[in-house]
Amino acid sequence: MSKNLPNKPKRLRAHLEQHLHILDTLPFAILQVNKKYKVVWANLAANDLLQMDPFGLRVEDIFGNEILYDAVEASDEDNEEVRFEFEWGQRPTLSILATVTPLQQTSSQGGRMIMTLQDMTTQRQTESVRADFVANVSHELRTPLSTLVGFIETLQGPARDDPEASGRFLGIMRDQAARMSRLVEDLLSLSKIEMNAAVIPSGALDVCDLLNTVIESLSLQAETAKQQIVISTNCGQLVRGDADEMTQVFWNLVENALKYGRENGKVSVAVKSINNGTDVRIDVSDNGEGIEEEHLNRLTERFYRVDKGRSRAMGGTGLGLAIVKHIVARHRGQLLVASKVGEGSTFSVILPAHEDHSSSS
Ligand SMILES: Nc1ncnc2c1ncn2[C@@H]1O[C@H](COP(=O)(O)OP(=O)(O)O)[C@@H](O)[C@H]1O
Ligand SMILES: [Mg+2]
Repeated sequence: MSKNLPNKPKRLRAHLEQHLHILDTLPFAILQVNKKYKVVWANLAANDLLQMDPFGLRVEDIFGNEILYDAVEASDEDNEEVRFEFEWGQRPTLSILATVTPLQQTSSQGGRMIMTLQDMTTQRQTESVRADFVANVSHELRTPLSTLVGFIETLQGPARDDPEASGRFLGIMRDQAARMSRLVEDLLSLSKIEMNAAVIPSGALDVCDLLNTVIESLSLQAETAKQQIVISTNCGQLVRGDADEMTQVFWNLVENALKYGRENGKVSVAVKSINNGTDVRIDVSDNGEGIEEEHLNRLTERFYRVDKGRSRAMGGTGLGLAIVKHIVARHRGQLLVASKVGEGSTFSVILPAHEDHSSSS
């Protein structure tokens, strides 16, 4: 850094300082290391990445890492650039991509090589999440697909002249095809929401109208599940939002409450104006079996289910709450989950009120 500059003529010094300033604005860490592997210069990004000023420290004392030390040595001996990635630090452990470049001419301060360090942690995590996601999607599609193929073969062979079995098998095939199409629809929804993540919806929505429409569309399901849906709200509360996406949010939450609620139970939907009218809170509660605490933080992960078999048997894709989370985030809202085993669960969505919100609430 500039404090270590030798006493040069004024213009040259200003010139050097300008260049050092440029190096300080670069987004990746740069360390200059001398022949004893001591850091003789570092830019600001290096201080940020390492959470300390590495000036004067030995490379091995900073990283405590044999691999890195060996690489520095190798690049020193072979006089060529070396690139490698290593894990460093604890809580959080960072993935760092290092490039070690020997300097042709040893500088006056004894600089022997330049190390650039790039923090790859987020990129590596994203890649691993993507890989898991693709593996999960393939698995979820393969199961109904192999059932379909199996039944097609049976219908072409042993069951060809058995109309009773054929009818039954076709019913199963229709259910499996419907499951695949639900999955594809949910995947498309997710990618559409992700693509629009940066755009905040600005339309005005009447929560009460929206919830009534959702409840109406789930009335048959409520009847089948022998559940009652009760709504308490002051109508006329406006939130900022996209009608289709918000319908998806509350459809998923109310459908879950019906699916995982208790037979002859009650699903309550309550709307309240909070934070002096700047936000609107919508609670969807059931008095079902509840969710154990260890699962609560993971429910919005794609394909995460407390009971896989049960979710599948009820036609779930395991993507509902992931969709809800993404939509709520796009609306700059909040999703909260509270649950007590044996008593039930409440999923709450907090949304910014629309500026023209009714003062009657
Ligand atoms: N109201 C609820 N009560 C109990 N468990 C719930 C409730 N809502 C969601 N869950 C749990 O969260 C999981 C993920 O929900 P979701 O993403 O909607 O997937 P799906 O409903 O397709 O299984 C469910 O499989 C279930 O285990
Ligand atoms: Mg669901």
